[in-house]
Amino acid sequence: MTVLVVATGNPGKLKEMQAYLAGLEWELVLKPETLEVEETGATFAENACLKASQIALATGEWAIADDSGLEVEALDGAPGVYSARYGKTDTDRIERLLNELGNELNRDAQFVCVIAIARPDGTIALQAEGVCPGRILHSPRGSGGFGYDPIFYVPEQRLTFAEMSSDQKRLLSHRGKAFQALAPQLQQVSSQ
Ligand code: IMP
Repeated sequence: MTVLVVATGNPGKLKEMQAYLAGLEWELVLKPETLEVEETGATFAENACLKASQIALATGEWAIADDSGLEVEALDGAPGVYSARYGKTDTDRIERLLNELGNELNRDAQFVCVIAIARPDGTIALQAEGVCPGRILHSPRGSGGFGYDPIFYVPEQRLTFAEMSSDQKRLLSHRGKAFQALAPQLQQVSSQ
């Protein structure tokens, strides 16, 4: 088993990644608590690569990082890479987004997730992207999930992310799709 350092201090995220990558020849471990990487990139891909690369260099191990967020078409892609910094709490962020969108008829949006894997020397070995299209509701619905989940409606399922079971969201979500794209490539890297 090769060690793969996860660029997060959040044990929940580690667990989620372990579930997505179960059965592969990688041992996922949390990054050291003192190691922080600032998300200074202008795109999800830049931020994911930056985090993976810096954690790999600092630990001397393989590293995995993801960056994700919500892009709203009528807001020219905002909040985008600023999704986490759009307000102090999930409620503030949702309120700000709904205010900015107002009665706009075009409610099209998408969640995007980019995952990057860096080699111990900091170079990027793999990158995968997942996108989940949907629409922004006028008010929140559902109590599951986190972040913008209660206002993100997936028309095919007729449910918001906050109304889906975690298995359902795992299959459909931007993060799920990015991991589905990454897993076979990661399998190849570990068998080289
Ligand atoms: P990250 O942890 O830097 O990738 O920040 C992602 C931010 O985007 C989160 O803090 C949420 O605000 C938002 N976000 C990303 N994925 C989701 C999701 O699946 N549901 C709801 N909000 C999400």
